[in-house]
Amino acid sequence: MADKKSFYVTTPIYYPSGDLHIGHTYTTVAADTLTRYKKLQGYDAYMLTGTDEHGQKIQQKAEEAGITPQEYVDDVVSRIKDLWKLMNINYDQFIRTTDPEHEKTIQRIFKKLYDQGDIYKGKYEGWYCTPCESFWTESQLVDGCCPDCGRPVEKASEEAYFFKMSKYADRLLEYIESHPDFIQPESRKNEMINNFIKPGLQDLCVSRTSFDWGVPVTFDTKHVVYVWIDALPNYISALGYLNDKPQLMDKYWPADLHLVGKDIIRFHTIYWPIILMALDLPLPKKVYGHGWILLKGGKMSKSVGNVVDPVELVDKYGVDPLRYHVLREMTFGSDGVYNEDLLVSHINSDLANDLGNLLSRTTAMTVKYFGGTLPETQQAGDYDDELIQTAHKAVTEYADFMDKLDFSRALESVWKLIGRANKYIDETQPWVLGKDAGQKDRLARVMYNLTESLRIIAVLISPAMPDTGKRVADEIKVPQAQRTWESIQKFGGYPAGVTVKRCKPLFPRIDVKKVAVETAAPVKKQKQQKKEEKPAGVITIDDFAKVQMKVARVLSCEKHPDADKLLVFQLDFGNEKRQIISGIAKYYQPEELVGKKVIACTNLKPVMLRGLESNGMILSAISGKQLRVLTVDGGDMPEGADVG
Ligand code: MSP
Repeated sequence: MADKKSFYVTTPIYYPSGDLHIGHTYTTVAADTLTRYKKLQGYDAYMLTGTDEHGQKIQQKAEEAGITPQEYVDDVVSRIKDLWKLMNINYDQFIRTTDPEHEKTIQRIFKKLYDQGDIYKGKYEGWYCTPCESFWTESQLVDGCCPDCGRPVEKASEEAYFFKMSKYADRLLEYIESHPDFIQPESRKNEMINNFIKPGLQDLCVSRTSFDWGVPVTFDTKHVVYVWIDALPNYISALGYLNDKPQLMDKYWPADLHLVGKDIIRFHTIYWPIILMALDLPLPKKVYGHGWILLKGGKMSKSVGNVVDPVELVDKYGVDPLRYHVLREMTFGSDGVYNEDLLVSHINSDLANDLGNLLSRTTAMTVKYFGGTLPETQQAGDYDDELIQTAHKAVTEYADFMDKLDFSRALESVWKLIGRANKYIDETQPWVLGKDAGQKDRLARVMYNLTESLRIIAVLISPAMPDTGKRVADEIKVPQAQRTWESIQKFGGYPAGVTVKRCKPLFPRIDVKKVAVETAAPVKKQKQQKKEEKPAGVITIDDFAKVQMKVARVLSCEKHPDADKLLVFQLDFGNEKRQIISGIAKYYQPEELVGKKVIACTNLKPVMLRGLESNGMILSAISGKQLRVLTVDGGDMPEGADVG
């Protein structure tokens, strides 16, 4: 027998710096759904997830808790594993960067890159907080002070190793341009090329001496390997790269898909391919940067205290409804806003009504008219062909969308079949056929077509909702051989002579009023408190401090390809580059602002404007028909300087 085709998919490895929220759950549910789908199709699919456990932040958290970093990460990691169990994530391997095998691989990679001259010793410069013994980058500072203790910081430098990123920039650009599928979605690819690669890559700091919770550099042990060069190679250390058991490497590398959030796409499409090029390894086939689950007020954040806890939602609604909701609601690739009302409406309408009713009506009528067992002879009739065609289409459309990682539309295709089957009941009116003894055979065909549709539906939903797929197939007693991908390519695989029973509702309906009261209550309370605190229109210094503004130099400015009013700016903030789109094309020629130092708000929620992402807002003064961009007046104010 020929070997099965392999398919290797990874999620990011998570920082165990606290409990994970629904945003983290989203990537993992998506990866799990895709892996289950590939396995269903007969692939030898392999899913990797894990935890990224080293670094200063973890060391500090452990110190605060009065335990060792290892004890700290062991505790959080065991909770993360419990969460994945709860979410029914069927990963094939869970890697921890504290695994001795991973650490060995990292040390060997570091040494190899050093020996071949890609890593060299230099000086790391940053802002140092003496009491905390910590280095911070410009953008991590809060009001120019240490983000941890609030005390002043000073410029300082420490010895560090660096990776020569720039050496590989041309090769990387050529690779990205000749492999159109490598970075997805397309908009992220353009962002990487224009904002990061073309302006020039800086060498990457890959070791530190100011903390010791990390993998020691073997030939210079006061250094530990720093962040990305420890984290990214988890995708190959998990397969045994430079270790004693590299068999998995032969089987699964290069990865078919790295699924990552948009914030870390840069590391996966610039640093990671360059590391792989330096190691002379093939690059992953695709890196997909998905959007974020946001809340109405913006980003979920532990410090603001507005994170949505998946454990609470599973307790309240069950795991499959939550999996269905995140996959169906979010357009993969774009940001989406989490809303509990929508989750409830998905449960009541799509799951309880559409799917649940189809199952309960079909089984109840099979029991009522045939004692639960359908006879073999059956007469075809009106509407059958249409239902059968819809079933075929659902299978092909579903596969097309799943292959494009468009989970939402893949599920939509299944719901088209569910809708068609419900309509078929109304059209064929089994209750009328049931009154006429001469129509018994036709009635049997109607019930068969419905049960067969349910079989196909059960198989199609099983990657996204494994328990529900199984439950539907169990209720209609589908034999194992008819639960396969192959078996649903043809309508008619459900065997005759099977006996079904009436079933309990698949999903209990949620009382919308009750949920609305529960969710609104804390908000109401908060609003009342706010009223008492300050008069309308006045904001406190804390409110003002939430707006982050910085100086940026305009690297380039171009007309938006699809909107006359918009200009697309590439801005340099010192430590990072960003794209901001501004509706000021009426007031400026694009080249007028290039080279100027402007002021931009940097913590606005990113938005897509006619297909391009805008990540912040450039400030302007407006009066009547006049508009002028605010610029920095003289002096040598550096890019990234705080405005306040
Ligand atoms: N440790 C790094 C990844 C290293 S991969 C070699 C890291 N960890 S993280 O825990 O901070 O984030 C893990 C993933 O969660 C990222 O892909 C990030 O985009 C994703 N998300 C964090 N918040 C999110 C939402 N609100 N919505 C969707 N995904 C989000 O980064």
